[in-house]
Amino acid sequence: MSKLAEFSDGQKIPQLGFGVAGILPEDTQAMVEGALGAGYLMIDNASIYKNEVEVGRALERSDVAAGDVFVTSKVWPLDYGFDNVIKACHKSLGDLRREAFDLYLLHWPVPSLGLYVESWKALIELQKQGLVKSIGVSNFYPEQLQKLIDETGVVPVINQIELHPYYQRRAEKKFHDEHNIVTQCWSPLGRATCLLDDALVGIAAKHDKTPAQIVLNWQIEQGNVVIPRSRNMGRMQQNFDVYGFELDDEDRRQIAALDKGLDGRLGEDFDLKELPND
Ligand SMILES: NC(=O)c1ccc[n+]([C@@H]2O[C@H](COP(=O)([O-])OP(=O)(O)OC[C@H]3O[C@@H](n4cnc5c(N)ncnc54)[C@H](OP(=O)(O)O)[C@@H]3O)[C@@H](O)[C@H]2O)c1
Repeated sequence: MSKLAEFSDGQKIPQLGFGVAGILPEDTQAMVEGALGAGYLMIDNASIYKNEVEVGRALERSDVAAGDVFVTSKVWPLDYGFDNVIKACHKSLGDLRREAFDLYLLHWPVPSLGLYVESWKALIELQKQGLVKSIGVSNFYPEQLQKLIDETGVVPVINQIELHPYYQRRAEKKFHDEHNIVTQCWSPLGRATCLLDDALVGIAAKHDKTPAQIVLNWQIEQGNVVIPRSRNMGRMQQNFDVYGFELDDEDRRQIAALDKGLDGRLGEDFDLKELPND
């Protein structure tokens, strides 16, 4: 059973969830049913993943009570603007067949659009209407978080950012901690790029675990929320089996030393011109 992190609004989120980006619609239902069966109680989705309908089907068919699964979705920047965000949320709720989201996020700030503050106000409205329980953002830098706070007085409960051993973002994590914003890590395994690293392989052998289990345990012990993705049932189950052991200070020192800063980064900021719509 996953441990929980607590938001500033009082809601709790499982620290370990299943991310469904890049899972083909035709494979999604089986993978999500498998994840729920393996014990995952949090699903990270987004309209741009194009598999909300299939996730909804898996949630409906599962033996796990609907209310026991924490469901996140995100609004894509092409749907930004107050009215569009409200519409997009209704569409996602319909596709996932949920009455409300546990968490709804702005997917990317895309500052060149000039719409992220207005879109944040739409999330505040959706929360007032009871259509989303908690509201947060993804891929926001501290200055953009500060702008939301300054202009609306409402602090996002979470910021979902790329974070893994090769890209550790300590200054941003510190900003989040100071503002009571939970750090959620996308590509928490660094899309497997770091899993063959000698340091992680050595730590894994010492604890009789896999490098992926070491990385997830390391993220969770820092209070982060992680959403590893796997299209393989065995690896998906392995990624949930990350409790029952503790890293020591030498392990932590070695993992801290893996940080490559921006050189370790896998993604890039979307600009208006290159914003994909599928
Ligand atoms: N907010 C955003 O902008 C954003 C951006 C990207 C991702 N995300 C979220 O974050 C989730 C995860 O990110 P991600 O898929 O980019 O990266 P990830 O979870 O770090 O890595 C996934 C990759 O690692 C492999 N893998 C998974 N478990 C493994 C294990 N135990 N051992 C070895 N390899 C393993 C997977 O291959 P197999 O499938 O073959 O196992 C896949 O290639 C997404 O699904 C999505 O929910 C959000």
